Amino acid sequence: MSRIAYVNGRYVPFREARVHIEDRGYQLGDGVYEVCEIRDGALVDERRHIERLQRSLAALRISMPIAPGALRFVFAEMLRRNRISNCLIYLQVTRGVARRDHGFPERPVEPSIVITVRGLDPRKAIEAAAIGVSVITVPDNRWGRVDIKTIGLLPNVLARQAAKEQGAKDAWFVDEDGFVTEGASSNVWIVTRDGKLVTRPDSSRILGGITKTVAKEVARSLQLSLEERAFSVAEAQAASEAFLTSATQTVMPVVRIDGRAVGSGEPGPITKRLRTEFHKAAEIGPKLL
Ligand code: PDD
Repeated sequence: MSRIAYVNGRYVPFREARVHIEDRGYQLGDGVYEVCEIRDGALVDERRHIERLQRSLAALRISMPIAPGALRFVFAEMLRRNRISNCLIYLQVTRGVARRDHGFPERPVEPSIVITVRGLDPRKAIEAAAIGVSVITVPDNRWGRVDIKTIGLLPNVLARQAAKEQGAKDAWFVDEDGFVTEGASSNVWIVTRDGKLVTRPDSSRILGGITKTVAKEVARSLQLSLEERAFSVAEAQAASEAFLTSATQTVMPVVRIDGRAVGSGEPGPITKRLRTEFHKAAEIGPKLL
């Protein structure tokens, strides 16, 4: 069976799924997105993802093209039609199709919505987390509102590519004062030598990650001490553990930063604990299948 995509109200075979060449997402990066995990047929943290989608849309003054209830129906239909129950859902909304002009279209247009699913192999994720990932650091040269989850990801693309070319898995952005902001597609954390979890507080300089929010709850429930503050690259390299959080990777150990081993150079016990506990704290919705 071929994969199915959802494009502007229609379920279409993946290979035939198209948007117009004058879609403002395609021409101007004028849109937002969400990535959400589906685990055993149930949405993970749907409420928070929908709330963030609404916030991103509101920030760009794009209207929500579908009611949250109807959206859940579309998600369910996508799982059914793609016969998949462990996957990532990608949802993108752009301002719509209009003659190219930087200002908003004079006559209102319908936003465009595209949804795709991609299989997640839980075994591969376990294997990756058992080893951990290495990261490089790059200057954070993004715009000042990265708290909005826009599809304009060029600095993130170049950062990830630089990482790949240097034999690392990912890149961490570093601000002008030498403090780590976040990863190319994740939030970042360290565990200090005296066992404190440290992560940067939400601001316009980072995306307020859903996984980060849940991981904070896990930390609290495990009575781990948590400091929300920025940390430097040197502090991270000298930490006893480091990890990143995102919907695609949940809690992923970081074992090398710019070639320097973090702690023992292997995934640490607190990171492992948070990873194991993560789905117990996340809001798991009803089964959609
Ligand atoms: N990215 N920071 C950035 C820049 C991100 O792109 C992401 C997620 C996060 C973590 O957010 P969350 O925990 O809500 O997934 C932080 C998604 C997964 C992506 O672009 O694929």
